[in-house]
Amino acid sequence: MIPLSTPFFDGNEWQYVKDCLDTGWVSSAGQYVNRFEQLLSGAVGARSGVAVVNGTSALHLALLAANVQPDDEVLVSDLTFVAPINAIRYTGARPVLIDAEPETMQMNVKLVREYLENKCSFRQGVTRNKKSGRKVAAVVPVHILGHPVDMSSLMDIAEEYGLSVIEDATESLGASYKGTSVGNIGVASCFSFNGNKLLTTGGGGMVVSNNLDIVSLARHLSTQAKSDEVEYDHDMIGYNYRMTNIQAAIGCAQMEKLSEFVAKKRNIAAVYSRELVDIPGVQIMIEAPDVTCAYWLYTIRVDDRIFGMNSRELMRCLSDQGIQSRPLWKPMHELAINGSFTYVGGGCSSALQRDALSIPCSVHLSNVQQGKVIDVIKMASRR
Ligand SMILES: Cc1ncc(COP(=O)(O)O)c(C=O)c1O
Repeated sequence: MIPLSTPFFDGNEWQYVKDCLDTGWVSSAGQYVNRFEQLLSGAVGARSGVAVVNGTSALHLALLAANVQPDDEVLVSDLTFVAPINAIRYTGARPVLIDAEPETMQMNVKLVREYLENKCSFRQGVTRNKKSGRKVAAVVPVHILGHPVDMSSLMDIAEEYGLSVIEDATESLGASYKGTSVGNIGVASCFSFNGNKLLTTGGGGMVVSNNLDIVSLARHLSTQAKSDEVEYDHDMIGYNYRMTNIQAAIGCAQMEKLSEFVAKKRNIAAVYSRELVDIPGVQIMIEAPDVTCAYWLYTIRVDDRIFGMNSRELMRCLSDQGIQSRPLWKPMHELAINGSFTYVGGGCSSALQRDALSIPCSVHLSNVQQGKVIDVIKMASRR
């Protein structure tokens, strides 16, 4: 099987993990945790970071640290993995689901403005939903598939309406927008180091920010909000979200490969784009101007009327040849569990979910394997 995206360990992972076992520093404190926080936040240019158990907990903490309150509204991408919506709901806030735009597949920032202009009022520094009176507290752009959201426009809107911007950068480590790393634009940003991400710690996440108060509150909440070094005093409802030293050790070794991994992903993407661009009915993945895409998952779109088969038929065709591919997530507004939340848009995320297919792009994908993927897609188009 040629897998979609699997981890790659050819650096110091064994040595650093062995060091944890040899020294007994295996749990949620240790030099690798601090080092990983410094390396990752440094790589994105943020002042500080707190390492946690996964990307979902990072989002939960970032929202809490940005003071999102129960019953607030939080605008968020409709076309995403479910985690950011769940994290918003953990806080008791209500997601407002913003459709994608067709070119980059990212949050349609024009719809954010439309929603705020038409459905909300802005008074004394606070934006409220005109009908419900709920405060609109934050916006969570989810940079999906390695490509950034249109952050200049979004930051302008957020400033105008007094919203906190919390970036879900879990899929886009290594990407940048107008020269600034994704994850260093909003007030806080979140990363995931799940096994299928650009770099992995097995499972893990991080909140990074230039605002040290946010990082320190997130850190406090991640350690059961223990407020005394010695005595078991706790001043808030905290969580047990800290990353272990073993996970961080793997992360430190993976960080040494970050630029190599990004270069490999970009190289794989360049080959796919060159080879697939002329196939009728296939739309290659687009990199917007002013953006450096990290191409976490290279994703094509299939127009069945021109290509001759739809994305799911192509998926089966690839699978028959031992190649894994994957559709995008069901849009959040189509999930029954999100039925009571506002959806702003016109069906773009649904169309993308129908037509899009992510194809193999592990950093260790060989030329032969990539050639096979390309050949199977070309053959399918001629059927
Ligand atoms: C967009 C997005 N946000 C959040 C997460 C959550 O990360 P984790 O699985 O580490 O909790 C993921 C993926 O796993 C994701 O794709």
